[in-house]
Order: sequence, then C-alpha cells, then structure tokens
Amino acid sequence: MATVLIVGGSRGIGLGLVERYAADGWSVHTTTRSGESPGAAVETHRLDVREPDQIADLARSVPVCDVVIHVAGVYQGRSRAEMFAVNVTGAIAVCQALIDGGRVVGKLAILTSQMGARRGRTESLGDYGDSKAALNDEFRRRAPGWGERGVTAAVIHPGWVRTEMGGSSAPLSVEESVDGIVSVMAKLTAQDHGRFLTWDGRDHPW
Ligand SMILES: NC(=O)c1ccc[n+]([C@@H]2O[C@H](COP(=O)([O-])OP(=O)(O)OC[C@H]3O[C@@H](n4cnc5c(N)ncnc54)[C@H](OP(=O)(O)O)[C@@H]3O)[C@@H](O)[C@H]2O)c1
Repeated sequence: MATVLIVGGSRGIGLGLVERYAADGWSVHTTTRSGESPGAAVETHRLDVREPDQIADLARSVPVCDVVIHVAGVYQGRSRAEMFAVNVTGAIAVCQALIDGGRVVGKLAILTSQMGARRGRTESLGDYGDSKAALNDEFRRRAPGWGERGVTAAVIHPGWVRTEMGGSSAPLSVEESVDGIVSVMAKLTAQDHGRFLTWDGRDHPW
C-alpha cells in the first residue's frame, strides 16, 4: 500500500486531500496543530510548522512516504512576519527535515499561489504574495539538492478554491482542486522536477 503525508490536514484543501487519498486506499498520514485527527481514519501527527521541535518529531515518527504534499499556509489577518514564518520558513523546514530524515522516497509538492508569481515584477506583491514568491525562490534554490536525493518535487498553485482562505466566491470546489492535484501528483515524473505547476497540470510562470 502506498503511503502519503499531507502536511496541514485539518480543513480546506488539506482535508480534501486526506479524504481523497484515504478513499483511494492509500495509507494516509497527516498533521494538525492540535494533534487531533481531522475525522477520516488516518494517522495524525501534531505539528505547528513554526515549531522546530515538532518538525523534528514528525521527521522521526512519520513512515517513509511515496508522496508528501505540504499544504499548510496562512493568508489574511496575519502579520507579515507570521506569514513568512508559516508560508516560507515553516514549509521549507518541514520539507527539508523530511528529506534529510529519508522520509520521502518519491514525490513532494508544496502548495504555493499564483499570487506569488513575480512575472519579472520587482514591486511588492503584498504580504501574502511576497511570502509565496519567497517560498518559490527557496524551492528553486533547494530543488537541485532535493533531486540529488532522489526526490521529484514541484510547487503547485491549487487554483482559487472555496475554502476559509479562498472565500465563497472562488470558482473551484475543494473536490475539483483535489482531483487536479491528485492527478498532477500521479503523473509527476523526473522531468517535472523543479517546476511550478497548476492544479490542472499546466506550467505556471514564475
Ligand atoms: N484557497 C485558495 O484559493 C488558495 C489559492 C492559492 C493557494 N492556496 C494555498 O493552498 C494551501 C491550502 O489553502 P486552503 O485554502 O486549504 O487554506 P485553509 O482552509 O485556510 O487551511 C489552511 C491550513 O493550514 C493550516 N495551518 C495554518 N497555519 C499553520 C501552522 N502554523 N502550522 C501548521 N498548519 C497550519 C491550517 O491549520 P488550522 O486548522 O490549525 O488553522 C489549515 O489546515 C495554502 O498553502 C494556501 O496558501 C490556497
């Protein structure tokens, strides 16, 4: 049975991915900040991505995974510092610790955002956009090393999705975004390593 880890499975897209992979028969591990299971019958680990000790515990306790998807992120109502701590430092630290701990044998994705695409611009993209742009930069910096460890990694824009973060006017349901992300992960090959992809499998400009 293949094993997947969804980092940030309490709600939104993360919970949708947990439910989908469980329904598809995968061995599913996820993380929540409380450590409580999000409901589905899955192994749940306690993790706030800003806590290095909890990241180290996760990298020790999670099994070797075929697929890891880092979903946890924050958008509105947070300081710029918190946004960078969660969306950049936390996301990269979790992925690096899992790779260093030999817990990823296959594919890894980090959910980023189209709002972090600079497209050559130098002005601020707002706190959230700047944090996702910084995540993309750090991903591109580390991707060669991750590839040398045998990991195929990409950043994925999940679409604009009806979650607490995306709001009720977003065009995509969680199920539509999850369907796309699961399909992108299934098709991901070594040629895709280091790419910025969309939930429906297109290349996104940096
Ligand atoms: N929705 C969209 O339209 C959209 C568009 C582009 C990109 N994205 C990206 O997609 C990802 C998921 O978005 P979403 O819409 O599903 O968001 P959401 O519904 O707001 O859920 C955010 C998730 O991140 C977790 N989280 C927040 N801070 C955390 C921390 N410090 N440590 C660990 N987990 C933390 C939350 O856990 P708690 O329940 O404990 O708060 C929750 O599980 C995010 O990275 C977001 O930036 C979303």
